[in-house]
Amino acid sequence: MVIPNKVRIVEVGPRDGLQNEAQQVPAAIKIELIDRLTDAGLPVIEATAFVSPKWVPQMADAAAVMAGIRRKAGVGYPVLVPNRKGLDAAIAAGCDEVVVFGAATEAFSQRNTNCSIDEGLARFYEVCAEAIARGLRVRGDISVCLGCPYEGEVAPSQVTRVARALYAMGCYEITIADTIGAGTPGKTRAVIEDVAQHIPVAKIAGHFHDTYGQALANTLAALECGVATFDSSVAGLGGCPYAKGATGNVATEDLLYMLDGMGIATGIDMEKLIAAGSFICAALGRETQSRVARARAGKPAAAK
Ligand code: HMG
Ligand code: MG
Repeated sequence: MVIPNKVRIVEVGPRDGLQNEAQQVPAAIKIELIDRLTDAGLPVIEATAFVSPKWVPQMADAAAVMAGIRRKAGVGYPVLVPNRKGLDAAIAAGCDEVVVFGAATEAFSQRNTNCSIDEGLARFYEVCAEAIARGLRVRGDISVCLGCPYEGEVAPSQVTRVARALYAMGCYEITIADTIGAGTPGKTRAVIEDVAQHIPVAKIAGHFHDTYGQALANTLAALECGVATFDSSVAGLGGCPYAKGATGNVATEDLLYMLDGMGIATGIDMEKLIAAGSFICAALGRETQSRVARARAGKPAAAK
């Protein structure tokens, strides 16, 4: 398989990153972050989640965030929806793309969405049918594909079963997520090869958390399988409230550095991206998790 010469980066920091913050982040900060990411050239920015505020209070301002951002033509601003109620709220907020999110294990499905895998799929079936009938695009995420905090090892066939179901109900892309960042390149390859027996590889995306420092290695393994879409989080923000100890996604700056170095086109401006990361880290009172942003900060301007 030839490595793709163009990659689509899906920025998930405003959602995956900020959903995990203990402090309430004002909607105005989220809006400025998304606008800065738009200016940096991100083609897709996962903006927020229309989920139960009792479960994830940080995303309770989803409608305000969608109303405040400056949407650029050609840029996607998908939002997570767990059920019909979330879809209805997303449509009312003018969203044109939603993300349904299932899991490869029963235990994680219960913790994250309070239902079994099949109950979740039944909800997503309804969400997909309604969303697609109204002209929205639907992406399908699958959690814990490379390891589960409750069940441990996950067989590729568990992932493939859910991926096939989501693809059959009309998801235009299936995201293989390593929620706890425990996967390694061998596991990544095994899962992608299994899923790709049933779904075109062009419809598969990678979403790698970096808990064990494997996310870029897993990205390279996925690239070698032909995957050309990757989720990442500016400044490496985030984690999942239902996967304790898991850190953020691979930092977008670090992913971009690797892809730039490999001559793979993304259309993203590194300096503006680093500035967006600095902005959100300052707002949160936090050090960046991006190795590239840290290295750049230590260099004199002329050497950048
Ligand atoms: P439940 O408690 O079983 O649902 O939660 P329910 O239908 O009984 O509703 C409970 C209350 O929530 C009700 O309010 C509903 O109206 C309300 P009450 O009557 O008590 O006042 N409610 C909602 N409110 C707003 N928007 C909604 C909504 N739905 C119900 N959409 C439910 C089930 C799925 C709703 C809940 O478990 C939930 O919202 N879970 C979301 C969890 C979540 O957001 N997790 C993080 C995102 S996934 C992730 O990070 C992984 C990913 O990054 C990939 C990876 O790395 O693995 C994508
Ligand atoms: Mg995630």
